[in-house]
Amino acid sequence: MSKREYDIIVWGASGFTGRLVAEYLFKNYGVNDSLKWAMAGRNQAKLEKVRAEVADDSVLMVIADSQDMDSLNAMTSRATVICTTVGPYAKYGTKLVEACIKNQTHYCDLAGEVQWMRRMIDKHHAAAKASGTKIVHTCGFDSIPSDMGVYFVQQEAIKRTGKPAKKIEMRVKAMKGGMSGGTYASMSEMKVEAEKDKSIYGILADPYGLNPEGERSGPDRRDLMKVVYDETAKSWIFPFVMAGINTRVVRRSNALAGYPYGKDFQYDEAMLSGDGIGGRMKGLATAGVMGLVMMAKPGSLLKKGVDAVLPEPGEGPNKKERENGFYNLIFNTTLANGSMARGKVTGDRDPGYGSTSKMLAECAISLAVDELPEVAGMLTPAVAMGDALLKRLADNAGLTFSYKEV
Ligand SMILES: NC(=O)c1ccc[n+]([C@@H]2O[C@H](COP(=O)([O-])OP(=O)(O)OC[C@H]3O[C@@H](n4cnc5c(N)ncnc54)[C@H](OP(=O)(O)O)[C@@H]3O)[C@@H](O)[C@H]2O)c1
Repeated sequence: MSKREYDIIVWGASGFTGRLVAEYLFKNYGVNDSLKWAMAGRNQAKLEKVRAEVADDSVLMVIADSQDMDSLNAMTSRATVICTTVGPYAKYGTKLVEACIKNQTHYCDLAGEVQWMRRMIDKHHAAAKASGTKIVHTCGFDSIPSDMGVYFVQQEAIKRTGKPAKKIEMRVKAMKGGMSGGTYASMSEMKVEAEKDKSIYGILADPYGLNPEGERSGPDRRDLMKVVYDETAKSWIFPFVMAGINTRVVRRSNALAGYPYGKDFQYDEAMLSGDGIGGRMKGLATAGVMGLVMMAKPGSLLKKGVDAVLPEPGEGPNKKERENGFYNLIFNTTLANGSMARGKVTGDRDPGYGSTSKMLAECAISLAVDELPEVAGMLTPAVAMGDALLKRLADNAGLTFSYKEV
């Protein structure tokens, strides 16, 4: 790809997460030194206001609207990578993907909307591959810690036993953080689409819903839907709301890379709530509240009630909440020789925004400047960026990756 005016354009920089990405880039990379980047959005005045708060006027601005194809073509032809936080992606993201492929511009986003990603894969994988463009969804808390955590644990397992692990159970041991209005809007949009087209519920329930066509089967079953006791973790476990995205991304990584984890590899995710009656009650209570939020149908009284207490687009956890946030994920691993190992991934900020904005920014930089595997198409973080991203996350983004035999 020829050198462009910008290495990266951050589109959506006026929004809650985009602003954090711009702030991170400015603080850690400057603007015209090793990295050339610009802030983009649809509204010049809003962008100027955010720029004054998180950077200075050495950061240039680009105007592009999701409904204006000319503006998207113009923007994508100026950068090596578009890093987009303009969501809900199902509502605003489709034309940008088309423009990136047309102009051979790499792309990363924070999409967690499985039904939209399925549509993008079906429509664009072949063209993106042919044009040498890397389109990478899920570059935030969903699904980098899961995708890169499994990538890391499998490398360690192969180093020690010569074979990939047969099974990994990711368990959320602890996490602290809040939700933004943009994320809630994306969850709501998914529900609206699924109510209009019920086949979407089938895509969301399919454990291999993001796998390449013809490779949508394997040993994994549907995500956990109830509270059960996990003998390996010695704890009650309950459904993890991100499992429906993360597990699909891990399975797609395995398939796209030619099954380095094996065709019979099993993977699932859940949250730990502790041992004994207290652990069970905590699991039941949390799963119950989550279930209510997820089940609320568009237009229903329940949905209106949930809408009233959750943030509006543009809002989210404040600086203190982001800085006090963290996550700790355990990867209980059954090795090929039958023994057990445990991987761990931690993050030093709240998962959804403080940590996500650093992960997304590092993905954009990696796509722009790192020596990466010669792959193209609709990719996953592990397949697109592999070792280069693992190093960036540990060196710069506050993540830790560790592994031990138990
Ligand atoms: N995967 C993860 O871990 C994770 C974490 C965080 C967020 N997310 C996702 O990231 C997305 C953004 O979340 P957020 O909280 O940052 O949302 P937000 O604050 O609502 O920001 C949305 C951005 O999109 C822009 N936008 C809206 N319509 C547009 C259009 N027609 N053309 C161009 N730009 C437009 C907005 O511009 P204006 O300012 O002009 O309105 C704003 O900059 C959501 O889809 C969310 O689900 C995912």
